[in-house]
Amino acid sequence: MARTSRNNQTSSKSAAQRWICSRDSAIHGRGVYAQCDIPDGTRVIEYTGARITKAEAKRREEQRLERQKRGGDDCVYIFDLNKKHDLDGRSTRNIARLINHSCAPNCRADNIRGHIWIVARREIAAGEELTFDYGFPYAEWRLHPCRCGAKRCVGYIVNKEQRWRVRRILRGRRNLSP
Ligand SMILES: C[S@@+](CC[C@H](N)C(=O)[O-])C[C@H]1O[C@@H](n2cnc3c(N)ncnc32)[C@H](O)[C@@H]1O
Ligand SMILES: [Zn+2]
Repeated sequence: MARTSRNNQTSSKSAAQRWICSRDSAIHGRGVYAQCDIPDGTRVIEYTGARITKAEAKRREEQRLERQKRGGDDCVYIFDLNKKHDLDGRSTRNIARLINHSCAPNCRADNIRGHIWIVARREIAAGEELTFDYGFPYAEWRLHPCRCGAKRCVGYIVNKEQRWRVRRILRGRRNLSP
């Protein structure tokens, strides 16, 4: 049976399935949705995948860019785990891989003793799409247009601390156009 503990920790794989389901998303491809109201602070699902070195992650990212050039699947599933390792969450067993990015997310990704958990950052109503901030590096912002639809969406997937820079560049571009 699906259970949560008093501090809202998801205690089994089936518990995650109780909270969420996946379907087509208005943001991108498939997304993950709340099946019922999810309390603030709930560990909804673990982001699982193969633990790979940074060098291997770089090699897989290059392969992804090649696929993108050929018009193939360009989804990023590699998750920054720590200084030495990343997680490749591409496996279809990892439902959390379907969670899209938002500039105003309702979840966050917490590294809890080496495991990445998607945690509700506020109460999430049944039917809402789950999102978290991918926190992509500033150097790559042009590669990742954002369609999250949030009021303050910057238009690109980039970490929160650097969004002001992207906004400044985009403002400059607008001022240049006739
Ligand atoms: C981990 S996948 C998310 C699941 C994806 N929707 C799917 O169907 O597989 C990450 C990819 O989804 C897309 N994506 C996620 N959030 C997005 C957003 N806010 N705007 C545009 N594309 C997004 C990007 O292509 C990104 O590389
Ligand atoms: Zn956005």
